[in-house]
Amino acid sequence: MRLAPSLIAPTRLFANSSARATLPVHPRPFNHLHHLHPRSISTTMTATAPSPAPYEPTAAATATQQTSTGVKLTAHNQYDATRLDRTSLPADPLDLFRAWLAEALRPAPGSPFPPVREPEAMVLSTATARGVPSSRVVLLKEVDADGFVFFTNYNSRKSAELQANPYAALAFHWREVSRQVRVVGKVEKVSRAESEAYFATRPRGSQLGAWASAQSSAVGEGALAAAVEDAAKKFEGKDVPCPEHWGGWRLVPFEIEFWAGQPSRLHDRFRYTRPEAGGEWAVDRLAP
Ligand SMILES: Cc1cc2nc3c(=O)[nH]c(=O)nc-3n(C[C@H](O)[C@H](O)[C@H](O)COP(=O)(O)O)c2cc1C
Repeated sequence: MRLAPSLIAPTRLFANSSARATLPVHPRPFNHLHHLHPRSISTTMTATAPSPAPYEPTAAATATQQTSTGVKLTAHNQYDATRLDRTSLPADPLDLFRAWLAEALRPAPGSPFPPVREPEAMVLSTATARGVPSSRVVLLKEVDADGFVFFTNYNSRKSAELQANPYAALAFHWREVSRQVRVVGKVEKVSRAESEAYFATRPRGSQLGAWASAQSSAVGEGALAAAVEDAAKKFEGKDVPCPEHWGGWRLVPFEIEFWAGQPSRLHDRFRYTRPEAGGEWAVDRLAP
């Protein structure tokens, strides 16, 4: 198992299906990307490198209309992604995912910046054994031949739901290129060795945070800072080991849909499916 210690070269992401694509462990701070999202930049961020924006908004800000009970959102943005064409689809959807991810991470010609901000951020949906769903954003850390890996606290709400019901869904929204990828599959824990190897690459502050935070539990004001201090004292002068309650999940997909936004909502959608146990992928174009 290999995990990159720092930003990897985008070319690794073009690996074939037996290879792995590993996401940056310490991504560049987002103030370097501020020009892509001028409205989302905090006031403390400053411009560091002028460059042509690879993404130009094509629509005005979302129009809003107050109603007696709330607000209506009335923009009608048009999408215009690169067309998706059945004849160019690979047999393995993970190859297409890696190619799209590489494009999202590869700086445009003449720019040091990738076109998509934090493409590894994905919405993870889980559900209780009774089917009550919950969603949150987590970071994709690796795509290998088997599936999609993320790391978290094994005592968190999401992990409790995954233990009770090992099916989950992912959604990537790459707004700047008008693309979406949806994934459905079954999860399994990654090996302890994989979790430890990844944990060792994390900044020390995040490592201490993993010890200090009982993720998803109610916590008293100030208690987290005190717990971080305790952890810092406990491991002073030592490496911070990976807690037993922290590690990775791998989602092994049996359905992956690629969506490329098109004008008039006539989007391209292709859905790959295979039996849950694995085997050949079938592909269908779906109506938008
Ligand atoms: C951009 C972004 C990235 C995140 N990445 C992770 C992650 O990789 N792992 C994680 O446990 N939580 C991550 N979180 C926090 C989760 O969204 C969530 O708050 C947390 O995991 C607790 O979720 P739960 O109570 O449903 O288990 C991230 C949040 C954001 C907004």
